Amino acid sequence: MTTSQPLSFAVFGNPIKQSRSPFIHQSFAAQAGLQLKYRAIRVEDGDFPRAVTAFFDGGGSGLNVTVPFKEEAFAMAAQRTARAARAGAVNTLWRDDAGVLHGDNTDGVGLVRDMVANLGWTVHGTEMLIVGAGGAVRGILEPLLAERPASVHIVNRTVERAEQLAREFADAGTITTGSYDDLEGRQFDLIINASSAGLHGKAPALPSTLVRERCCCYDLLYGSEPTPFMRWSAQSAAWAVSDGLGMLVEQAAESFFRWHRVRPETGPVIHDLRGVLAAAA
Ligand code: ATR
Repeated sequence: MTTSQPLSFAVFGNPIKQSRSPFIHQSFAAQAGLQLKYRAIRVEDGDFPRAVTAFFDGGGSGLNVTVPFKEEAFAMAAQRTARAARAGAVNTLWRDDAGVLHGDNTDGVGLVRDMVANLGWTVHGTEMLIVGAGGAVRGILEPLLAERPASVHIVNRTVERAEQLAREFADAGTITTGSYDDLEGRQFDLIINASSAGLHGKAPALPSTLVRERCCCYDLLYGSEPTPFMRWSAQSAAWAVSDGLGMLVEQAAESFFRWHRVRPETGPVIHDLRGVLAAAA
């Protein structure tokens, strides 16, 4: 009788204790009838390239990469998908049979799938506001622009970072930029919060008048409780409000598809993960 080792996967980040990726990938594997190991591994600053090489040399099949290593993962990948090249960041790594390291970025497609397929929201034709201009926005901009919103405005505390993004993505769509003060009197159909203010318990300083009738508000952050931005959205009478849990599961599903060529069912996993978060609260 022969016993084969289960395929080995991991997510690298720092911090990593909070990662739900092992739960998500094990749930997908159970659906697909696959045996695999998936571990959350904390990597120290400066050790990322060595850790990646050691993981694949040791027989690892695929890696997810989270904060703060997505740019380093991008730099290491010899082959990048078009969307990863565009984002300048990689969250999914694998080696091909020739030993070449490939990188993809599944964050943006995960967000769009959650909004459009799961929540039933429309991106096409909307006047969209993106709050924040950091690495997270770089990852989601191209898939969002591909849905052809009517307009995209990026507001950021540091306006130059928003201007830089607008320049980099100018060929994919027209993006306007500005400060929080410039938002007075404006209204939007879709507001996406990609600022990390919520990690410090704060909602970004947005006027409640931004919310147009039937406006949808999406926070990339998630948790067992509504985030500060979600509370702001509800108080501003948004038509629909969501956190980023569905995006987390959808980006994982796209990574899973890359590695296994099987597209998992995400609905039950989003539901179960919601229960896990509530139980841990
Ligand atoms: P990420 O990878 O999550 O995008 P990042 O690149 O550090 O992380 O970007 C964090 C984003 O949250 C930035 O847009 C940041 O604004 P600045 O570019 O002006 O720093 C925004 N941010 C963080 N704390 C904030 C706060 N208290 N109020 C408003 N915006 C905040």
